[in-house]
Amino acid sequence: MNARVLAVANQKGGVGKTTTTLNLGVALAASGSRVLLVDLDHQASLTMAAGLGDPDSLPVTVADLLAAVIDRREPDYGNAVLRCGEGVDVIPSSVALATVDMLMATVTVARERILSRMLEPLLGSYDVVLLDCAPALNMVTVNDLVAADGVIVPIAPQYLSFKGLDMLLGTIRDARAANPGLATLGVLVTMREKRRLAQGEIEDALRAQLPADMPVFSVTVPRSVKAEEAPGHGMSLLSYDPEGPVACAYKALAGVVRERCTMLGMPLGCGKESE
Ligand SMILES: Nc1ncnc2c1ncn2[C@@H]1O[C@H](COP(=O)(O)OP(=O)(O)O)[C@@H](O)[C@H]1O
Ligand SMILES: [Mg+2]
Repeated sequence: MNARVLAVANQKGGVGKTTTTLNLGVALAASGSRVLLVDLDHQASLTMAAGLGDPDSLPVTVADLLAAVIDRREPDYGNAVLRCGEGVDVIPSSVALATVDMLMATVTVARERILSRMLEPLLGSYDVVLLDCAPALNMVTVNDLVAADGVIVPIAPQYLSFKGLDMLLGTIRDARAANPGLATLGVLVTMREKRRLAQGEIEDALRAQLPADMPVFSVTVPRSVKAEEAPGHGMSLLSYDPEGPVACAYKALAGVVRERCTMLGMPLGCGKESE
């Protein structure tokens, strides 16, 4: 069975996309799935948070793979896919991705499917591919939503009232013209602070803005200083603070995401268990 591709998207920066991609990915791997994370932000936060070092000194990044697809050359997958030591593979990014975004816009036929074509040969080797989207509604993000089977939207409570969610939902609707099967897995409340809005109020405010097919995940991620520190150490929370509340939240989220994918008829495989 081919991997399910899940995009972690919100055009707002600082809402927890990268943290969710890494920690949900490590949690899914810990529960038996073969996981590939793809950094699709030219700021390369995921690449650094996963402990892969200086993005600009890596020999091959996602920018090279996408450029190869555009130029009809064979992408160098062998040097692009890195093992991060926490049970997941990662395709890193670098600042060169910003140039590839502009290059994509000049492609005349099926420019929104360049990432899908890049991922295609990799899907047989994984159960789950998580795409860490950029904080922008650019060509790369459109490619992410067209390549994805499902989308997870992290949102930080302080941004609840922003119009951004509407724009993202509009882009998801647009992406469905090219990718009718794109499922909305759910909205994830991250960086929740106990003293601020009660959980019920956050969910009510979100539900008022969301279409019926976009649930709010029952799991929320609390704010924690450890979560701010972990990326600087190149570690997931599951390694940096394994018993802490953020690691526990992402482990619970892995279970909830599995259930939701099964409910939507796209169960996530557990290929490691049968190895
Ligand atoms: N649960 C959390 N508690 C505290 N800080 C967090 C939490 N999740 C993420 N952060 C921090 O907030 C910042 C933005 O998170 P990040 O995942 O990079 O967001 P995005 O990818 O949406 O820009 C980072 O410095 C990250 O370490
Ligand atoms: Mg990010």
